Amino acid sequence: MTIRPTPLADSIVMRLLEESDARPLSEAYLLNREYLQPWEPRRADAFFTVEGQRSRVQDQLRLLESGQTVPWVLDEGGRVVGTLTLSNVALGPFRSANIGYWVDHGYAGRGLATQAVRHACRLADEVADLHRLEAGTLVRNRGSQRVLTKAGFTLIGAAANYLHIDGAWQDHLIFQRILNQRPPG
Ligand SMILES: CC(C)(COP(=O)(O)OP(=O)(O)OC[C@H]1O[C@@H](n2cnc3c(N)ncnc32)[C@H](O)[C@@H]1OP(=O)(O)O)[C@@H](O)C(=O)NCCC(=O)NCCS
Repeated sequence: MTIRPTPLADSIVMRLLEESDARPLSEAYLLNREYLQPWEPRRADAFFTVEGQRSRVQDQLRLLESGQTVPWVLDEGGRVVGTLTLSNVALGPFRSANIGYWVDHGYAGRGLATQAVRHACRLADEVADLHRLEAGTLVRNRGSQRVLTKAGFTLIGAAANYLHIDGAWQDHLIFQRILNQRPPG
C-alpha cells in the first residue's frame, strides 16, 4: 500500500508513522497528558517515555506491515501535533476499520482533525479498498462528534459500557461513514 505524505494546513503534514517518531511522540504525549486524559485509556508512566513510545511505534509498524493498522502522525517540522490511526482493518465482506485521532491542545479549532479524517477516508476508499469506517466517541465529546459529522459520518447508535476510558467503562456514540458501494474484491 503506497501512502504519501500530504499537507494539511500551514506547515503541517500528515504522514505515516516512522521508527524515529518515538521521541517526538513521547514529547507530544507529555505535553498533552492532562488534556487527553478524559478522552483516552489510563496510561502507565512508561507510556510517556521515549522507550515506551519506541515499543508502541514498533508494534504499530508491525501491524501496518501486516495490513491491520494504518498509523499516521501530524508533523510540523519534526514535532508531532496529533495522530490518526485506522485500526482493526477487516477485509472479506466487511471491509471496515476503526478510526481514532487526537490533536495537540495548542492546535485545536483550526480544522486539523476534520482535514485529517477526510484524508484518511479518501485513502481508506482509494488505496486500502475499504467499504466503511467506524468511530466511537464518548457521549459528551461534542468536538469529536462535530469532526465526524463534518467529515461525512453519521450516527448509527449508542453503546453502553463500550470502552474503558479514563479509568471507567463508558457509554459511547457510534458513527460510521460508508465510503463506496464497490463489492468486495
Ligand atoms: C476532538 C479533537 C480531535 C478535535 O480536533 P480539532 O483539530 O480541534 O477539530 P476541528 O478544528 O477539525 O473541528 C472541531 C469542531 O468541533 C467544534 N467543537 C469543539 N469543541 C466543541 C464542544 N465542546 N461542543 C461543540 N462543538 C465543539 C469546533 O467548533 C469545530 O466545529 P466547527 O468547525 O463547526 O466550528 C481534539 O479536540 C482532541 O484531540 N480532543 C481530545 C482527544 C479526542 O477527543 N479524540 C477523539 C476521540 S473520539
